[in-house]
Amino acid sequence: MAGVIQAVRGMNDVLPDEAPLWQHFEDVVREVFAHYGYRYLQVPLVESTPLFVRAIGEVTDVVEKEMYTFTDRLNGESLTLRPEATAGIVRAAIEHSLTYERPQRVWTAGPMFRHERPQKGRYRQFHQFDAEALGFAGPDVDVEQVVMLARLWRALDLDGITLHINSIGDPDERRAHRAALVEYFSLHANALDADSQRRLQTNPLRILDSKNPAMQTLIEGAPRLVDRLGQASREHFDGLQQGLADHGIEFTIDPRLVRGLDYYNRTVFEWMTDRLGAQATVAGGGRYDGLFEQLGGKPTPACGFAIGSERIILLLQSAGRTVVDVPDAYVVHAGEQAARLARSVAESLRDAGLAVVVNAGGGSFKSQMKRADASGARYALIVGENEAAANRVAVKSLRGEGGQIDLAPDELATHLSSN
Ligand code: HAM
Repeated sequence: MAGVIQAVRGMNDVLPDEAPLWQHFEDVVREVFAHYGYRYLQVPLVESTPLFVRAIGEVTDVVEKEMYTFTDRLNGESLTLRPEATAGIVRAAIEHSLTYERPQRVWTAGPMFRHERPQKGRYRQFHQFDAEALGFAGPDVDVEQVVMLARLWRALDLDGITLHINSIGDPDERRAHRAALVEYFSLHANALDADSQRRLQTNPLRILDSKNPAMQTLIEGAPRLVDRLGQASREHFDGLQQGLADHGIEFTIDPRLVRGLDYYNRTVFEWMTDRLGAQATVAGGGRYDGLFEQLGGKPTPACGFAIGSERIILLLQSAGRTVVDVPDAYVVHAGEQAARLARSVAESLRDAGLAVVVNAGGGSFKSQMKRADASGARYALIVGENEAAANRVAVKSLRGEGGQIDLAPDELATHLSSN
């Protein structure tokens, strides 16, 4: 016999028992986004590789080692499964002149692909809800996005998610800070681990991201960009903080918060939990005022974020949240004539907006009743030979008091809907 083929490592199935919780989460996000005027758009899962290299940055973990890149077998073009959605959305916005007449609030959702080491909360195919405000200089939209996420956590009844913010300034300020960092870390070069030595040459900002305990004191003492912001960035950051305070949103300024993608400037933020171990960030984003130009578009300020769906689902599950998706009725039947009646009764109940499962594949009355029970349905509708002959249906409540009554087909919808 042939061996069993399993799912690719780090890529998960969402099975029917888990799916209702996912759908609940997705419904709530969609509703909250809509309430802030965000409109849905869809971009492809596959884009040309240079898009991500240019947008995310050559010297990032994502581009250096996590992309699923392959060659189009006909024309040799290098293509990549999207590791995130922002680059594709900005590409689409430029391509279709989306922000030509007015700024746009948009969102998308779906699978993203990163070749990371899988662990709890970290996968190779994962899902994001991604929102982008295109053409807004802020900081009002920066505030609005954070407020929108705070509302989402409330709507999902999730607590313990804390907000961390920082400003990483504008390119000039970052360059000056980068120079100051290189100088500082070069002075302490012998205290750097191998990874950081390498980053000192390529991306010194990422040294601040090091989790190596031996490096923490050195990192604490490093020059901080947030202390060296120019006036415009400073005012933007003050505006963000004031706006959050106006909404009563608590936050921590984390001068070491740098994001893993290079397109950001000024505002960066992450919502974090201490309930998921190392994969603490459930949503992250910030401003990327230079990205449109970097991708060949007109200068267009913008700000956005993405939510990691799997991490929110893990939080909901760890809070004991369950959502079940059950039919209103399960139809049990025996005999040719009964089967016909069962099917037509089910169709008219569906016309009335009810969810009905008709037993298929035969089975004794007892085994059909077992399936009815396992389906979670509120009612079993029983059509035996006697019922079929009399054009009646026996209705048995499967939850609570389990009485049974006989009804005509056209009385069923009202009865099922009113109980
Ligand atoms: P990101 O921080 O790379 O940002 O990802 C956003 C969120 O996606 C993370 O906070 C995390 O919850 C989730 N996530 C990332 N990688 C994985 C993974 N391997 N497994 C499970 N969940 C993961 C972005 O992607 C930006 N595009 C966000 C953004 C939009 N910035 C501006 N606009």
